[in-house]
Amino acid sequence: MRVVVIGSGGREHALVRALAESPSKPLLWAVPGNPGIFQHAQPTGFDNPLDAESLIAFCRESEIDLVVVGPEAPLAAGIADALRLEEIPVFGPSQAAARLESSKWYAKRFMERYSIPTARWKSFTIDEVDEARQYIDSCEVPVVIKADGLAAGKGVIIASTRREAVSAIERMFSGSFGDAGKRIVVEEFLWGEEASVFAICDGTDYVLLAPAQDHKRLYDGDRGPNTGGMGAYAPAPIVTADLLAEIERSIVAPTLQGMITENAPFVGCLYVGLMIAEGKPYVVEYNARFGDPETQSVLEVFRGDVARLLYSAARGRLDRTAIEATAAGWSCTVVLASKGYPGSYESGFPISGIEQAQQYARVYHAGTALGADGRLITAGGRVLDVTSHAATLAEAIKQCYRAVECLRFENIYYRTDIGTRALRTQHLLEEGS
Ligand code: AMP
Ligand code: GLY
Repeated sequence: MRVVVIGSGGREHALVRALAESPSKPLLWAVPGNPGIFQHAQPTGFDNPLDAESLIAFCRESEIDLVVVGPEAPLAAGIADALRLEEIPVFGPSQAAARLESSKWYAKRFMERYSIPTARWKSFTIDEVDEARQYIDSCEVPVVIKADGLAAGKGVIIASTRREAVSAIERMFSGSFGDAGKRIVVEEFLWGEEASVFAICDGTDYVLLAPAQDHKRLYDGDRGPNTGGMGAYAPAPIVTADLLAEIERSIVAPTLQGMITENAPFVGCLYVGLMIAEGKPYVVEYNARFGDPETQSVLEVFRGDVARLLYSAARGRLDRTAIEATAAGWSCTVVLASKGYPGSYESGFPISGIEQAQQYARVYHAGTALGADGRLITAGGRVLDVTSHAATLAEAIKQCYRAVECLRFENIYYRTDIGTRALRTQHLLEEGS
């Protein structure tokens, strides 16, 4: 099998690694890729992940069997539609199906139409500032303000006072989020614990991978601003077998069915971001692709043939025999970021210690580059993702931090508490059973 992976982050490095280790042994290419990804894949000769024309030409010349799309931007721009028109199998939803992620307003109305549990909400356009202000007066705080469109994880503000909420709304409408902020969704704040569930979908059928938990806040103790994700672990003990069954029944199955009714069947990885509130699951967000950094952990506990699984889904015939186990052991991922992220940060610092770290865990490249002298340097907000595997969650966390301590670059920042809350949950669940 000949596979092209689109993307250049830690998620794509993990996907490429898992594809490379698939028993079906695919040959791999990546666009634009990164130095870690190019340990397993070859470059395509073009660098723009939105360039459908070059991609199609490359797929034809190189007899590509499958394109796997990592990030949301190419999906929202319709890259999967362009490939399907040319009959090139692609793991990733159409532009219409990717609206579950690219428009929060669409996602909210979708959930309403199909009775999928989510927070109460109201939406306002840029011409309805006064109405939005009035509405805030009637809301409990905290209240959540979301830009409708894609905003690279920065379009969600949790306002703890009404005044903060109004100023967030004014900021969004003032153009600081570009077109993404021309419409906003104001949403009730849900108290609870978050979990992410990934469904590999072929349009009608699906299979769930191990549930994971992301750590979105920048600082230890889940404080500070939201980021793309500072760490993750899988499986997430909060998602018990009963809860997973409830998530399938009330959320995943009706979502796939709903997308068929909308004439936009979902092919790809449906990411369901959940809040578990008083034991019940609510959708906080949909994404139309694998999560980053959850994927690093989820694929670590997966056993089977990822290439065969994604290929079968892309062809509309999900092959469950490609899976031996979705949750073998435990995995923990810690993100090593540049100080300043998710705001501005400096890049270009040499990275060392990868070989030593690899004694304990995998080291995925998220934002790295090769400097002029060929040395590996930092080149992004999230720089490296360290992913461990062990027989227990406690051991996976320990291994992961052992590896983290080997890694060095200037302005390194990471959370020191990834997974620790899960240990407490696990302990409580065990005590209760
Ligand atoms: P989103 O991009 O919609 O996933 O929002 C980013 C993050 O904001 C989520 O992962 C949650 O941590 C938080 N969040 C979003 N919506 C809510 C909500 N209704 N209640 C509580 N937290 C939320
Ligand atoms: N980790 C959250 C995301 O991928 O959106």
